[in-house]
Amino acid sequence: MTHQHSDALVFFGATGDLARKQIFPALLALLRRGQIDLPIIGVARAEMDLESFRTFARQTLEAHGSVDGAAFAKLAARLRYVNGDYNEAATFGRIKDALGGASHPLFYLAIPPDAFATVVRGLARWGCHANARVVVEKPFGRDLASAQALNGSLLECFPESSIFRIDHYLGKEPVQNLLYFRFANAFLEPIWNRDYVRSAEITMAESFGVAGRGRFYDDVGAIRDVVQNHVLELLALLTMDPPAGYDVDARRNEKYRAFRAMRPLSPADVVRGQYRGYRREQGVDPESNTETFAALRVHVDSWRWAGVPFYIRAGKCLPVTATELRVELKPPPKEVFDRLPPIPNYVRFRLSPDVAISLGARVKVPGEAMTGESVELIVRHTSGDEMRAYERLLGDAIDGDPTLFVREDEVSAAWTIVEPALRAPSPVHEYEPGSWGPAESDALIEADGGWDNPTVSAPSALTAAGG
Ligand code: BG6
Repeated sequence: MTHQHSDALVFFGATGDLARKQIFPALLALLRRGQIDLPIIGVARAEMDLESFRTFARQTLEAHGSVDGAAFAKLAARLRYVNGDYNEAATFGRIKDALGGASHPLFYLAIPPDAFATVVRGLARWGCHANARVVVEKPFGRDLASAQALNGSLLECFPESSIFRIDHYLGKEPVQNLLYFRFANAFLEPIWNRDYVRSAEITMAESFGVAGRGRFYDDVGAIRDVVQNHVLELLALLTMDPPAGYDVDARRNEKYRAFRAMRPLSPADVVRGQYRGYRREQGVDPESNTETFAALRVHVDSWRWAGVPFYIRAGKCLPVTATELRVELKPPPKEVFDRLPPIPNYVRFRLSPDVAISLGARVKVPGEAMTGESVELIVRHTSGDEMRAYERLLGDAIDGDPTLFVREDEVSAAWTIVEPALRAPSPVHEYEPGSWGPAESDALIEADGGWDNPTVSAPSALTAAGG
């Protein structure tokens, strides 16, 4: 499938956090690999000329690691800068001038969502939107209604096919591999259903707190910040059916169907927690009831998954920083041997900090007795994610490939799932920083044997292949 490549990149919020931490490093990497070659126009409300914008870019990049001089020279040569207020029409006139002859620009809105409508209308008034694409960042609203309103403002000026919504989890290498491993092998599909799977867990644990983002976070909380998007995307990839066909929407269609099968949360399926000391974080309301931890039980109402519980945990100030998906299989139909090791068969997808796909199995301990032990067969194990998510996603947006971007219907379906938990929030329970969240979350999974807590060291490689 060929797409039309963008012939200029305009990024709004050029001096902001996202630009500094993600966009500049991604651009540098793409230029170093020779993957892109186009004018790069930064737009912000900071009095700067082009030279000081180049200096800003260099300092920003240096703050995040060593800078390849040759790649930076390519970046500096392509940079342009437009200073301006998004509320002033003249700003968009200057953007039009900076675009010169570009006829298929890409606009990246690295700005707060409440500025989206003003910016897209400003672009449209100057005719900059024709044949253009627009990239927008999460949060896509704060509930279903606001997400739809936000989308309405984008659709005033861009068709859905030109709107690229970023969820950076979809750009992560191990997330791609989750889909690849599922559908590039024949052995998984026969057991990937309610007949063989007993339950599954997704844990997105972070050992740090709100890290200076108290004001933003207090208005959002864990469910809006990471569950509605990153974690439900992972659940959709874990549970979706194989894509039918090869067009760009084949995968997104199946992902959408997976979201639609997830039952909206009921109060009994949600436990919220808040780490002790959160209310004293800068920017946080001293009486805040915002959750920094959420444990959920999700039901997937499809023929494939009916009756299989999917447990989710996401939280800050937990013992480790690690993201893992673990699918637990049912026990063998009949116990042939006494005292089987308690750890069941499972498939584990470890996304961070190291990356692994592994299978939990039982083998016999050498010797007279027919007793066994648990081992983990490691299919793939690497020390980390090789390609940064933003490199992949920005490259894809410039190439015009929408496969890894989130469609409007997926966003709405994901809001529909979490909305009951937002509308009538359950009580928030305090937990100790460095613990696995409030004790109340244990009751949620009790019937399925308790949580499986990821550890920071790599899974033990008793039998290893690849890597
Ligand atoms: C962001 C959230 O979307 O994802 C943060 O706003 C969270 O709160 C981050 O820390 C996690 O991303 P990653 O790639 O570090 O796992």
